[in-house]
Amino acid sequence: MPSYIVMGAQWGDEGKGKIVDVLAEKMDIVVRYQGGANAGHTVIHGDTKYVTHLIPSGVISGRSVNIIGNGCVVSPTTLLEEMDILRRQGVSFSPENFIVSPAAHMVLPVHQYLDKVLNEKIGTTVRGIGPAYTDKVQRTGIRWERACDGSFEEAYREHLDFVEKVYAIIEKKEMRTLRDGIPELVRTVESLKPFVRDARPVLAEAVKNDSNMLFEGAQGTFLDIDHGTYPFVTSSNTSIGGAYTGSGIFLDFKKRIGIVKSYTTRVGEGPFPTELFDETGETLRRHGNEYGATTGRPRRCGWLDLALLKQSCIINGFNYIVFSKISCLSGLKTLQVAVDYHPDGTPVYRELPGWEEDVLGCTDYLALPENCRRYIEFAEDFLGVPFGLISTGPDRDHVIERQPVF
Ligand code: IMO
Ligand code: MG
Repeated sequence: MPSYIVMGAQWGDEGKGKIVDVLAEKMDIVVRYQGGANAGHTVIHGDTKYVTHLIPSGVISGRSVNIIGNGCVVSPTTLLEEMDILRRQGVSFSPENFIVSPAAHMVLPVHQYLDKVLNEKIGTTVRGIGPAYTDKVQRTGIRWERACDGSFEEAYREHLDFVEKVYAIIEKKEMRTLRDGIPELVRTVESLKPFVRDARPVLAEAVKNDSNMLFEGAQGTFLDIDHGTYPFVTSSNTSIGGAYTGSGIFLDFKKRIGIVKSYTTRVGEGPFPTELFDETGETLRRHGNEYGATTGRPRRCGWLDLALLKQSCIINGFNYIVFSKISCLSGLKTLQVAVDYHPDGTPVYRELPGWEEDVLGCTDYLALPENCRRYIEFAEDFLGVPFGLISTGPDRDHVIERQPVF
């Protein structure tokens, strides 16, 4: 059984965690290739709810090797905290089942501080993501390889001197706090050293053996630094290209899975053509419990934007779509879907009839109300990609399989 990639097709929070969880269980290798703790995947397994931000979801089932690829940015403190929480939930980590690439960059407290003072207008998650990638591209970053050769402390001290020279915005008091934090940070980095090693031979071997591999995308296509709604984006390639640059391996993904929420949401600032500011937007937020998993912020809500999704399909070459949260649309009289844009950028809508019936947990496609099926099929025809899985609720078995996932 070969390789899978799961990507968000919109602006994140499409419900990637659930499908990743279903897939991860059967995988030999699970890879995160971009982003950092700005992601938030919620996985419900039995009675336990696991929230991962950095660590690939494969750790939960315990049968796969989990890799944080070179394309990620990883805070030592956040990583250790996340490992500790998962350990308390019974997850175990060893250098065999968990690998951090030495070429991944560190997110350090100074990045988190700079994110707060420099990026307000983007509405970031304040996890230090942008400033860490800035350092990477500027070639002043600190990579995880520093954990291995004992040179981390020196590198970070030098880095703080550099930052102090460059950024007048950082107060003296803050610089002191950052420097005072060094000894503890050094201990944290030291404790993570066993997990840092070159993941590429592991990946190459897995490809050779035709192992089951899952590449777990974070964020969504329109948060991509190149293809998204710049500058209101994250600082990595969230679309398919990021899987290659962020891991160092070529694979011909058997399934390129796009997760599409059956309406649209966005957190933070930036364009959102189908955004609803009325009662209907409120209803969607309430039905979908649209509050950020990472920051708790209320998400902006709006109609499904098929014109935008068409672009997402082109960028990522999706050949399988998971259509999520369909149960949140019940009770709306009519539904609008954007199929194009007017010259002024406002959406051209197509109106479709809604349905009253509760479809939560439905597992049989034909048991869905006719208008619900019409909605699904309209979107499917428009995008020209099979909607293989329809998610009808938060639980693992709240799902309609129209086309086998495996
Ligand atoms: P998951 O993996 C939704 C958004 C932020 C902000 C912009 C830049 O849960 O889908 P950043 O902290 O990355 O520099 O913020 O990107 N953003 C997300 N929105 N889901 C996410 O991840 C996100 N990660 C970042 O809200 O607008
Ligand atoms: Mg999120």
